[in-house]
Amino acid sequence: MLYRGTVRITALIAALTAAVVFIALAALLPRVAAADDYIGAEQCAACHPQEYAWWKNTAHARAGNALGPTEQRDPRCTGCHSTAPGKPHVQCEACHGPGEHYWPAFVMVDVHLARAAGLRSGAERSTCNGCHTADAPGIRPFDFEAALAKMRRHVPPTPSKAPAGAKGAP
Ligand code: HEC
Ligand code: HEC
Ligand code: HEC
Ligand code: HEC
Repeated sequence: MLYRGTVRITALIAALTAAVVFIALAALLPRVAAADDYIGAEQCAACHPQEYAWWKNTAHARAGNALGPTEQRDPRCTGCHSTAPGKPHVQCEACHGPGEHYWPAFVMVDVHLARAAGLRSGAERSTCNGCHTADAPGIRPFDFEAALAKMRRHVPPTPSKAPAGAKGAP
């Protein structure tokens, strides 16, 4: 009885140790983003309403609609017309990286911490080139600089105002 119990406990300890080592290694290894690392544009919208409103009016926010019902489940199409499984269209995280680890407020306010947790500026050539490949359809070939200029400014510029009390200010 006692002997069997000990064997069981030893096996349990071995299994637990293996699990802890596995988790520790998994945390250390650079990982490929998993589907549930993507939180969705609506979560970003809570703190970035202007960026969200801008994005909603871009072709990226409709990219999934270019696909028919079967194509929406075809990995040959969803790789570029969606962000992750269950996340249709080219959402924020397709350019800024999966948000699961950087979206909490205490991380986001510290841009260095946010970068370490996976936030990307979005302006890297590789971000766009992953989808805007030579064989993607389009009347004109993809012009990185011109396309980036369109994507860079999410927030409409505020009209410059003369400081209160300045000469000529109302
Ligand atoms: C809890 C609020 C919050 C959420 C949720 C949030 N952010 Fe942020 N984000 C901030 C704050 C605060 C800053 C820093 C101040 C600023 O630049 O507006 C910031 C900055 C940024 C920046 C600029 C970083 C830089 O280089 O200066 C990007 C890009 C960004 N967020 C993208 C996202 C994306 C994409 C999501 C969703 C996956 C997201 N954020 C979710 C609050 C948030
Ligand atoms: C390598 C990335 C990539 C893959 C894979 C891909 N597409 Fe696209 N697709 C694009 C890009 C980028 C555009 C926009 C090109 C442009 O406007 O310059 C586009 C545009 C389109 C358009 C025109 C959209 C519109 O609103 O005018 C359709 C339709 C389309 N793709 C269907 C598909 C289908 C169906 C598949 C799967 C068989 C697929 N795509 C696979 C990148 C891709
Ligand atoms: C097609 C790629 C792309 C998508 C999609 C995208 N962004 Fe960006 N984002 C960029 C680029 C490029 C910049 C400019 C970075 C720079 O100038 O260094 C940027 C800048 C930002 C900034 C910082 C400055 C600013 O203009 O506000 C924030 C915050 C941000 N994005 C949030 C978001 C959120 C939230 C979404 C989704 C609602 C989103 N982005 C969707 C590419 C993208
Ligand atoms: C996940 C794939 C993906 C990424 C990443 C991506 N795009 Fe796109 N982009 C698309 C698809 C798909 C379309 C076509 C959407 C449609 O029309 O249905 C598109 C459309 C566009 C358009 C609109 C074309 C037009 O009608 O003028 C521009 C501009 C553009 N992308 C620029 C960029 C830039 C710049 C980046 C990098 C900062 C980028 N994209 C990153 C997939 C992507």
